[in-house]
Amino acid sequence: MTDLLNVEGVSKHYGGIYALKNACFSLRAGEVHALMGENGAGKSTLARVVAGATRANTATIKIEGQPVAIRTPLDAQTLGIGIIYQELDLFQHQTIAENMVVRNTRFREDAFTSKSRMKVFCLPYLRQVGLDHLDTGRMVSSLSIGEMQLLAIARALSMEARIILMDEPTSSLMDDAVERLFALIEKLKASGVAIVYVSHKMDEIFRICDRITVLRDGVTIDTREIAETNVQEVIEMMVGRKVDPSARSHRHLSDSVLMSVSGLTTKKLKGISFDLYRGEVLGIAGLVGAGRSELGAALFGLDRLSAGTVELDGRAFHPRSATDAMRRGMGLVPEDRKLEGLMMQMSILENGTMAVLPRMQSLGFIDKKLEEREMQSIHTRLALKFTSLTDPVASLSGGNQQKTLLARWLLLNPDVLFLDDPARGIDVAAKQDIYRMIDELAARGKGVLLVSSELPELLRCCDRILVLNNGRLTATLPAATTQECIMTAATQR
Ligand SMILES: Nc1ncnc2c1ncn2[C@@H]1O[C@H](COP(=O)(O)OP(=O)(O)OP(=O)(O)O)[C@@H](O)[C@H]1O
Ligand SMILES: [Mg+2]
Repeated sequence: MTDLLNVEGVSKHYGGIYALKNACFSLRAGEVHALMGENGAGKSTLARVVAGATRANTATIKIEGQPVAIRTPLDAQTLGIGIIYQELDLFQHQTIAENMVVRNTRFREDAFTSKSRMKVFCLPYLRQVGLDHLDTGRMVSSLSIGEMQLLAIARALSMEARIILMDEPTSSLMDDAVERLFALIEKLKASGVAIVYVSHKMDEIFRICDRITVLRDGVTIDTREIAETNVQEVIEMMVGRKVDPSARSHRHLSDSVLMSVSGLTTKKLKGISFDLYRGEVLGIAGLVGAGRSELGAALFGLDRLSAGTVELDGRAFHPRSATDAMRRGMGLVPEDRKLEGLMMQMSILENGTMAVLPRMQSLGFIDKKLEEREMQSIHTRLALKFTSLTDPVASLSGGNQQKTLLARWLLLNPDVLFLDDPARGIDVAAKQDIYRMIDELAARGKGVLLVSSELPELLRCCDRILVLNNGRLTATLPAATTQECIMTAATQR
């Protein structure tokens, strides 16, 4: 049987650095095919080449045995190829409906394009991803990142493609939305659509994929039938060595309270109270929209409190801005690195040290040597993959951008660190490095608030887990809890 898609000899270099070297994979009709590899292995670049978003130096692409030329995203769309980008490419200052119809060959725009016609076009696809309750006239910038991810999926669906490339589509989705996506993938499969699925989540790969292709340093290592391989083998193919999952270091909780939150109320949060102890990693679980990120925003002075108090180290704490919060020893690694965290066109070094510059200045000059030395040591610990520290952050792979953001806050050495999904989009080996760093922070007596949409991560890292549900705190669970207990508290009415 001829493959639906055949991709061979794909090479792409940036300057002297190869992102892909003669990479290849093939796709059968109706299969879900995983692309896996460490951060920076070349997965997104390969997906973008097939989608016409990146021009390869060499590539041979065939659809049903026929060579095709894919030079632009429009070429790809015309050939029936759709993509959900890792860095969502939505227009923030346009509405949901506008984002769905723009450059969409399935929607005919004319002088009479009315809001209602756009809405009629969008609704079936929004319904499929569970976003049909939203007003299609809403600005995309007002959506949560999880909702944006669902919108990008709905847009790809609306193009009625027969090949869909999904680059980490679940990185910001909670379990309920992930389940909905998986059901959708089953339906697409049954109708003969082939899906390329890029993810770092092993459980997802083994659940929904039929075959897997592993990339390492831009080279295709091998393709396997999922039924004939296992997690350990895939990890070894990815990293070229054995990786031991790090165990959680045993901790004795101190009884000294570092931060005390009482009756915290904002537009979204309703009377949240809890204590964070020195040396504690306190997990924050909940569905998308439960108020997890809003808790960070409230503690950081980004959202106005309508009631409640926060004490830090026994002293009242009313941050008026992020800078104010930082001065008092708080750090926040935000959820969306692109919108809230990184300056994409600035260098890796500048992005990393931006928050600690005051400490590195003497007589108004930045001590460049100290800056590089500190950054280098953190980058080694996080195994950041880059060519030069002076390259723009935009040139890093998604996972390595996330690590840069984390590096900034680790350099700042705060007393309380609020981590909003820090391992999002991080490969299996690098995840272990991040977990070890969280252990290390706690062992040094810091307090860590850890938001995560991956329950195993919360169970691995935390001493206690707070569960938020619709802005309320519905449970405080011990480290020895189960995924079921967390889900029950997160979904109960
Ligand atoms: N515009 C660019 N300029 C320079 N280098 C780039 C550019 N885009 C990608 N690269 C490099 O190409 C390599 C592959 O990146 P790619 O984004 O494909 O990785 P990935 O496998 O998707 O990783 P991740 O899991 O972190 O998303 C990386 O080393 C990256 O730094
Ligand atoms: Mg990527």
